[in-house]
Amino acid sequence: MEQHQNGEPFVYISRRQEDTETLAAWLANAAVPGTVIGLDGDLGAGKTAFSQFFAKHLGVKGIVNSPTFTIIKEYEGRLPFYHMDVYRVSLEEAEDLGLDEYFYGSGVSLVEWSQIVEELLPKLHLHLYIETAGETERKITVQGFGEPYEEWCRSLKQNGVFTE
Ligand SMILES: Nc1ncnc2c1ncn2[C@@H]1O[C@H](COP(=O)(O)OP(=O)(O)O)[C@@H](O)[C@H]1O
Ligand SMILES: [Mg+2]
Repeated sequence: MEQHQNGEPFVYISRRQEDTETLAAWLANAAVPGTVIGLDGDLGAGKTAFSQFFAKHLGVKGIVNSPTFTIIKEYEGRLPFYHMDVYRVSLEEAEDLGLDEYFYGSGVSLVEWSQIVEELLPKLHLHLYIETAGETERKITVQGFGEPYEEWCRSLKQNGVFTE
């Protein structure tokens, strides 16, 4: 029997920014207190773009900038929104950031370059890997680690949102 320790990865093809917004909006609407989403992919892939769309649909008013230099920025939407970018942080430094306060808090955490702090992420989380496939085309690999994230993926699959 095939064993899935984690949910199977699905592929979402974003042909233009609006498609990335569609996925971000769906996930923002599904988000609950304690939701954690890790974002990875090269510079310019669209991690911040996704985060900005996500914030908009979580009801955050105003501008969401890349938190590369501040590491963590907090916003207020339907739920508190914690936007993190750990690109410039080592795992050792990240251990002192008190990330658990955010991850297990009452808000929603989005972590750019989450692979750097992979071992500090909650076991239950959603992961998005964004790859540039053309000027405005992006291949987004979505994987749920535990519930409700695997259920979200099954829903998106059933609704024909994923191509693979
Ligand atoms: N389909 C798409 N999805 C997301 N971003 C896109 C898309 N097409 C073009 N872009 C552009 O790609 C760039 C992504 O930059 P950014 O989000 O800052 O990347 P990262 O945070 O991964 O370094 C933005 O300028 C955005 O407008
Ligand atoms: Mg970024």
